[in-house]
Amino acid sequence: PTVTFVQPDGSAVEVSGTPGTSMMNTAVSNDVKGIVADCGGNLACATCHVYVNPADEAKFPPASDEEIEMLDEVFSVRHDNSRLSCQLNLPESSDPITVTIPDAQW
Ligand code: FES
Repeated sequence: PTVTFVQPDGSAVEVSGTPGTSMMNTAVSNDVKGIVADCGGNLACATCHVYVNPADEAKFPPASDEEIEMLDEVFSVRHDNSRLSCQLNLPESSDPITVTIPDAQW
């Protein structure tokens, strides 16, 4: 699916994602700014925080207890649609997905 990453200033970059690849890896491998991913996807840093477009939230399984716990550690404001992008594997569907990157990761 195409993933659109919206920066806090409203600018957006569209990248083509591979099903089964994490949104975090998709961002990092496309040099998308604002996804730090300090722990490399091990659910230990909370610097891969994104806000998932509410219309796209159901395209991902709900957060695990471990993710919910780590979401307490995000630096920017946590919203209902906050997720850790290393835990979001892109679906098979080619439906586009939009996420917004928070103001800061640390
Ligand atoms: Fe560290 Fe996602 S990359 S929690």
